[in-house]
Amino acid sequence: MEIIHISAECYPVAKAGGLGDVVGALPKYQNQLGHISKVVMPMYKTKFLNAHSFDVVHKGGFHMGAAGFIDYTVIKERVNTLGFDLYLIDIYGLLDREAVYGYDDDVERFVAFQIAAVDWISRWNHRPDVVHVHDHHTALIPFMMKHCYVYQHLNTIPTVLTIHNGQYQGWIGWDKTNFIPAWDPWKAGLLEWENTVNSLACGVKCASKVTTVSHSYLQELKHMANGLEKLFEYEKGKCIGILNGIDDAVWNPSTDTYIDYRYGIEDADEGKLNNKKILCDQFNLDINKPLIIFIGRLVHEKAADLLPAVIGDSIYHLQGQMNFLILGSGETWIEGQLASMNHQLTGYYNSRIGYNEQLSHQMYAGADFLLMPSRVEPCGLNQMYSMRYGTVPIVRSTGGLKDTVIDYGDKNGYGVRFNDASVGDITHAIYRALQLYKHPKQLDKVRTTMMEIDNSWEKSAGEYIEVYKQL
Ligand code: ADP
Ligand code: GLC
Repeated sequence: MEIIHISAECYPVAKAGGLGDVVGALPKYQNQLGHISKVVMPMYKTKFLNAHSFDVVHKGGFHMGAAGFIDYTVIKERVNTLGFDLYLIDIYGLLDREAVYGYDDDVERFVAFQIAAVDWISRWNHRPDVVHVHDHHTALIPFMMKHCYVYQHLNTIPTVLTIHNGQYQGWIGWDKTNFIPAWDPWKAGLLEWENTVNSLACGVKCASKVTTVSHSYLQELKHMANGLEKLFEYEKGKCIGILNGIDDAVWNPSTDTYIDYRYGIEDADEGKLNNKKILCDQFNLDINKPLIIFIGRLVHEKAADLLPAVIGDSIYHLQGQMNFLILGSGETWIEGQLASMNHQLTGYYNSRIGYNEQLSHQMYAGADFLLMPSRVEPCGLNQMYSMRYGTVPIVRSTGGLKDTVIDYGDKNGYGVRFNDASVGDITHAIYRALQLYKHPKQLDKVRTTMMEIDNSWEKSAGEYIEVYKQL
C-alpha cells in the first residue's frame, strides 16, 4: 500500500510539538510493516535542510486568486535518512521561513502548500492508495481532491484526516476563498462552519475517515471541540480513536545520545541520579529533593497559566520539600511570570524559556516527576516519554493522559492522576507524589512498571493500516 502523509511538521526536519514527533515516526513504522509510506511537508529554512542533500523532482505552478501565480518546487531527500521518502515543497517567499507557524500570512502559506501538494500528486502517472492529512493546516486537501474542478480526477483516492488538536481549526475569511482553485459552488457549505471557512470542519466533512490521537479525546470532542461539538456528534460514524505511540529509536534512555548517563531498567536508579545531579548543578537545585518538571507549550490548553500559583503554593504549603524546573515557550505573560520567579524562588525553582530539544531529553532522564495539568490533551507524548525514562507522570485525567496513565493507588498503577485543572487539585496531586517519593520501595516498583510499558508505534501503526484497508 502506498500512503502519502501531508503535514506541516515532521521531526527532525521541523517540529513545534507532538505533531512533528508523530509524523516523524508513524511513516517509518508503516514502512517496517512492508508498506510504502512517504511524507510531504513545506520546505522551511531549517538546520535539517542545510545538513542534507536533496534532488529536485518536480516544478510546477498554479493561480491562487488575489495572491497571483505561485511557483513551487518539490525536492526529495536523497538517501532516505529518516526511514521514509521525504518530499519538501519550496514556495519562494511564503514557506521558506525559519519558524513553522506564527506569521501574519499563515493562511496564504498553508493554502498555497496544500494546493501545491495536491497539484503535484495530480501530475503523477500513478495514484497513491491513501492520502493521509494531519490537522487543520492540511485539512482542505480532501475537499480540493473531491470538489476542485482541476483535481477531480483524484476524487476516488481515499483520504484520512488525523486530528491532533481540535482547538486550532484554520479559520479563513470568505474573502480568501478565491485562493482555493475553482470548486463546484454547490459545495460551498462543505467549507463553512458558523459563517466562516473552517478548514478542520471541512476536513471532517470531506475526509473518508477521521482519526483522533486517543480514544478518550474522540469522546470529549462531542462535548468540547471549540465550537465543532455538533459536527463530531453528526460524523461519529466515520471517526475512530487511535492512540499515538512513541519512537523507540529516539526516546530510549539506554541509547539516547542527548543525555550524559544512559541507563536501562536494571540501573535506572543510578542512571537517573547521575543525570539529576547534572541538572541540579546546572539549575542550582537540591539533588536530595524530588525534582518535578514541566516541559511544553506555555498556553491555556496546557494549564501553564496555573503553574506560577501551583509552584508558589506547593513550595509554601509543603514547606519547600520539592524542586521545580520548567522548560517551555508560549504566551508572553506566562513566560514573563515563570522567568521572574527564577529570582524569587532561587534554590527551589528554575526555568528555561525557549525550545531546547536536548534539554528536554536531559530533563525526562534526570527528573523524578513530570507535571501535565492540561485542560485539553488529545494524546500527549510527554507523559509517555517520561514513563520510558522512569519519571513518574502527574497528570490531569483527560484525553490521552487518561488513556495512558493509571494512578498508583489503583491496581498495577504507576502515575498520579487528578481531576480538575485547579491550583488546589494540582497541589494535592503534588502532595501525593511526595508521599510516593518517601517510599523508595514503592517508587522503585512504580518505576519498573512504567519503564516496562510498551507504548511503541508497532501496534498503532498497524491500526492505521487497518483503517486504510477498510477504505
Ligand atoms: P503538544 O503537541 O500539544 O505540544 P505533546 O505532548 O504531544 O504536546 O508533544 C510535545 C512535544 O514537544 C514533546 O516532544 C516535547 O518534549 C516537546 N516540547 C514541547 N515544548 C518543548 C520545549 N520548550 N523544548 C523542547 N521540547 C519541547
Ligand atoms: C497535539 C496534541 C497532543 C498530541 C500531539 C500529537 O499537538 O496537543 O496532545 O500528543 O498533537 O498527536
